[in-house]
Amino acid sequence: KKDKISKLNELNAKTHLGGGQKRIDKQHAKKKLTARERVSYLMDEGSFEEIGALVTHRTTDFGMENEIYYGDGVITGYGTVHGKLVYVYAQDFTVFGGALSETHAEKICKIMDLAVKVGAPIIGLNDSGGARIQEGVRSLGGYADIFFRNVQASGVIPQISAIMGPCAGGAVYSPAMTDFTFMVENTSYMFVTGPNVVRTVTNEEVSSEDLGGAQTHASKSGVAHKTSANDVECLEDVKKIISYLPQNNTETPKLLDYTLNDEIREVLSDIVPDNPNKPYDMHQVISGIIDTDSFFEIHKDYAENIIVGFARLGGRSIGIIANQPMFLAGVLDVNSSKKAARFTRFCDCFNIPLLVLVDVPGFLPGTDQEWNGIIVHGAKLLYALSEATVPRVTVITRKAYGGAYDVMNSKHIGADMNFAWPGAEIAVMGAKGAAEIIFKKEIQDSEDPEQKWKEKEAEYADKFAHPYRAARRGFIDEVILPKNTRRKLIKAFSMLEDKKVDIPKRKHGNIPL
Ligand code: COA
Repeated sequence: KKDKISKLNELNAKTHLGGGQKRIDKQHAKKKLTARERVSYLMDEGSFEEIGALVTHRTTDFGMENEIYYGDGVITGYGTVHGKLVYVYAQDFTVFGGALSETHAEKICKIMDLAVKVGAPIIGLNDSGGARIQEGVRSLGGYADIFFRNVQASGVIPQISAIMGPCAGGAVYSPAMTDFTFMVENTSYMFVTGPNVVRTVTNEEVSSEDLGGAQTHASKSGVAHKTSANDVECLEDVKKIISYLPQNNTETPKLLDYTLNDEIREVLSDIVPDNPNKPYDMHQVISGIIDTDSFFEIHKDYAENIIVGFARLGGRSIGIIANQPMFLAGVLDVNSSKKAARFTRFCDCFNIPLLVLVDVPGFLPGTDQEWNGIIVHGAKLLYALSEATVPRVTVITRKAYGGAYDVMNSKHIGADMNFAWPGAEIAVMGAKGAAEIIFKKEIQDSEDPEQKWKEKEAEYADKFAHPYRAARRGFIDEVILPKNTRRKLIKAFSMLEDKKVDIPKRKHGNIPL
């Protein structure tokens, strides 16, 4: 009996060593934590339970039968984060560079299946040299088994990917199909083909970092939703995002205890400048409205003309979409439309109410935008908001012009409550441009065209550069003082808590892609 126990102890000790101390030291030298350290940091203390620690690969080619490591390069299991059940897999770079074998994939699939059956988030910590080269197509099959499960789980349980090392070739498509991808700066990269292949095919000289490092994907491609300086900060971000989410699509996010004592926020009164052409930082409006320091921004450095992220309002988890007048005057363009549409759909999948803050002068004009399909991409946001059945509340802080007024969660596309601040301008376009078009002849024929233009601009502004025409039609439910916004929103979201919408039965809609 003693022998049997010592055998188990010996095996357990082996599983904890991964690819051996030398490789662990190498991992640390690269300023990376090991897979086991990452899991232990991520989970509530003592909560992690490992599954499949004794799994080994079945390959016999290339002398692989002599290279056996328990766990086969991935640590899988479950535990809690902030007391909530989550499933995790962490690729172990010390074993065959974290490369994915058939058995490695089976382990991941096993916990993905459990996560879907039980209804709890799955978190993938990626650090891998890609397909296990010694296994050939079996390894590729393993990837596809994971991809297929990513899609089946999409919109059922939250799926979060952290990229904490290499993630190249086919490996990128699992994170790409999860809900959020976080990357660690300087130690992680993602690309479909690496710098060598790029050089051969396109003659471009590019480093791994420039091609697919964290900053590149956070600012240029939008593949990364968030970056962090090191492993620990990245894992903190993963823990944080989990706190805003429900466990699955049948639940709503937990309402945190919150004592209301600061509903009137005077700070909101002075943010928007009188001059409609002067920018201001919409982040100030957001922080003026929400529970202190509760904003968790997504895609901070991508399409900065729109802001998206999670926040709390009186303890309630909400998603915020807001035009940002500081960048491109807050226009909608290809990237901002995609960014906001994707975020909208995530919130709608997981019953997270949406707050939309509007200050939008319209869509960005130009050949670049038209040729890149702003029609289709802009339609994504229009479609995503129109189909969202979660509670939806809008506040127009300043401009709501043209088609962008419709798109930005207008009453007409199903918003539940629409507020406007007294300085809101809801019109087809700005007064100056409008006057130039509709009074063109009058202005041209006038003895003093400049003066006439000004007069006509004032006339148009008087008629339309305010929220009251829209309020008279009921397109705006109430014009509110900025300082009362927080109070109004807390009440509105509380009132909408039990909102139910019956959607006609269909296989799925056909969002413009
Ligand atoms: N399959 C099997 N083993 C792999 C592997 C793979 N895809 N990728 C890396 N490894 C092994 C290496 O042989 C090495 O083994 P060792 O510890 O016994 O020496 C170990 O993982 C670490 O790799 P190494 O190359 O020393 O690490 P690095 O940090 O210098 O480079 C990579 C990392 C990912 C850039 C590099 O290993 C690489 O290019 N791998 C191949 C990527 C690829 O083409 N994958 C297949 C297509 S998806």
